[in-house]
Amino acid sequence: MCMEYHLRDGYNINVMKKGCISPGFNKEEKMKKKLLGTLLSAAMVMSLLAGCGGAAQPAADAAADAAATVEDTADAAAGAVEEAATEVVADVEEAADAVEGAAADAADAGAAGGNIKVGFAQVGHESDWRTASTKSCQDVFSAANGYDLSFVDCDNDEAAQKEAVRSFIEQGVDYIIIDPIIATGWDTVLTECEDAGIPVIVIDRTIDDSDKYVSWVGSDFLTEGKAAAEWLKAYADKQGISEINALIIQGTIGSSAQIGRTDGFQEIADREGWTVLDKQTGDFTEAGGQEVMESFCKSYAGKFNVVVCENDNEAFGAMTAMDNAGVTYGPGNDVILISYDACTAGLEDVKAGKITADFECNPLAAPTVEGVIKQLEAGETPEKQILVPDNWYALADQIVDFSVDGNAQSMIEVTDDVIAAQY
Ligand code: AHR
Repeated sequence: MCMEYHLRDGYNINVMKKGCISPGFNKEEKMKKKLLGTLLSAAMVMSLLAGCGGAAQPAADAAADAAATVEDTADAAAGAVEEAATEVVADVEEAADAVEGAAADAADAGAAGGNIKVGFAQVGHESDWRTASTKSCQDVFSAANGYDLSFVDCDNDEAAQKEAVRSFIEQGVDYIIIDPIIATGWDTVLTECEDAGIPVIVIDRTIDDSDKYVSWVGSDFLTEGKAAAEWLKAYADKQGISEINALIIQGTIGSSAQIGRTDGFQEIADREGWTVLDKQTGDFTEAGGQEVMESFCKSYAGKFNVVVCENDNEAFGAMTAMDNAGVTYGPGNDVILISYDACTAGLEDVKAGKITADFECNPLAAPTVEGVIKQLEAGETPEKQILVPDNWYALADQIVDFSVDGNAQSMIEVTDDVIAAQY
């Protein structure tokens, strides 16, 4: 067999083995050999006739001459055939080399083409939570798991995030993951994704003005906000605290994480008649939390007994500001400090008696997103909304019974083991 059939990742490549001669060449060679044989036979017959003597002598001489000519012609033909054969073999070898090279290239392309291409437009790197989210995505959508991940850290810049999505369209990725910085302004770019036939999966924060995505995977921010407030109500009752004067350090304004937490807390505050003295954004950063709390400490000195930070990093900054202003916080102190995320460092501050209660936002959505992609690959239809579970954390003395929208909630006591197991 002179042809090998290489099958790899959908590529069928026929490769001719080195040293083999093509069927076309064999036909040509056979024809030349046949012609030569015929000429030699004719010369031999003429020689025999010459051997009969007498009047046949001139004919015999002519036959001998003819035989010599035929022999010369045969030699020349044989030489030409040999030369042609050598040339054809060289050509075939060259062609085989080229085909083998192409086969190797195609095999490489096939290996890359076998990976699922995913573009991920991440919010930025503003918090411990975000770092955990990024790591989770990079771990799940790794080359070892069969993915080519294009990751863009959008540095909390809405325009940059939309550009990142457009660059994924240009790259021709198979799937686009978006953690939207802001909940609105998405329909145009999602329409572009739809037109390009690229499914979009939204994670963490929601998109509120377009439904042109396959699935959203994330936490229920409104429930987080309500849970924090319902816990505060039950805890304040237990402590005999009748008046609540709260300050809220909000997340990035317009993000669904901010909107849900602010609205959820405010709904219960309104119901209970609490005073929310002020709300300002710390942009989900430690620096932002510190700056806002420094301002609050000056403006509301001695007037507040609750500080709500819409993520742990803001709480870290707020604690620095309160330390500097001489305000004490945590169980048994001036201020009840509430936080969201429950990252490892946040839970360490709960254990240390600094943060009074911490309401988790689970950053590990990537394994669920991979499940969505696998469903799509299998031609199935994933759920439009997929909630990742969250837990609420406090020390034993701060754990109280409460419910959200009629649903009883449970809390987890923060221990060293719990902290060690956290993201
Ligand atoms: O969208 C999730 C929020 O964004 C997290 O609470 C916060 O830490 C992050 O930056």
